[in-house]
Amino acid sequence: MNKIFVIGSINIDITVSGKRLPEKGETVKADKFYIYPGGKGANQAISAGRCGAKTELVGKIGRDYFGDIINSYLKKENIDLSLKYGKQTGMAFINVDNHGKNMITVYPGSNSELDYNDFNHIKMENSIIMFQQEIPLKTIEDTIKNTRNNNNIIITDPSPFIKNEFILKNSDFLTPNEKEAELLSNVSINSIEDAKKASKTIHEKYSNNVIIKLGSKGSLINYNGEIVHYKPYKINAVDTTGAGDCFNGTFAAKYIETEDVDKSMEFANTAAALSTLSYGAFPSFPYINDVLSAIGRN
Ligand code: RIB
Repeated sequence: MNKIFVIGSINIDITVSGKRLPEKGETVKADKFYIYPGGKGANQAISAGRCGAKTELVGKIGRDYFGDIINSYLKKENIDLSLKYGKQTGMAFINVDNHGKNMITVYPGSNSELDYNDFNHIKMENSIIMFQQEIPLKTIEDTIKNTRNNNNIIITDPSPFIKNEFILKNSDFLTPNEKEAELLSNVSINSIEDAKKASKTIHEKYSNNVIIKLGSKGSLINYNGEIVHYKPYKINAVDTTGAGDCFNGTFAAKYIETEDVDKSMEFANTAAALSTLSYGAFPSFPYINDVLSAIGRN
């Protein structure tokens, strides 16, 4: 296969981390404050690039102060960039608690202006194409319509959750987290067995492969109807922001290298856990050797 294309969002993440998340109407004190680039698309692309995959990130940022910060970070990464400029860089406002759990509000800014015509000159064939849902769904639909028959593998993260039947049916892999899997399957997930049941429902409904990211419970895949659960890699998480994106990026990186689903799941399951050991999205994503030595230690 040629390459991984990530068509997706790029944001600046403004994060406060404290003992606990605020309730509605409540003010709580934070212990840490940090600003790093993030965005589900950029996070996936960087994670794939750091694990050795030939990767291109397609997205839109603002011609503003935050866009300059993003550019300076992205240029240091081992990925190709197809960036267009819109009005304002997308922003994410993140609260993290002392278990590393988060709450995010996203202002999409230029991400919401990304159109298929911005990148229809790029030839995507015999490649992996990755989507998340922080860009217009019409852009995802148009890209799928125009690239579906070019021997591409489409991996969609239905996050933030919006149910789009066309996208769901036309993806080779769907990668919901626990909550999104519940919404897709109408199965409430309280155990690994529930998650297996949810994966079956989703697989039967959309006839694709389903990966459910279960956070501290690990992950599972339903590949052509065969279900395997991967135990969590034990760590003390400080910030889970971007862990799911890291999972997708590193899964794709290993899959394009090996075309082996089992190896790719083990690799991504470990990489995503490692990404929660430090603060922020971009700075926390592991490099290939970090992941390989963690797998070796396990
Ligand atoms: O998935 C984590 C990402 O979601 C953050 O980096 C933030 O930008 C939001 O898009």
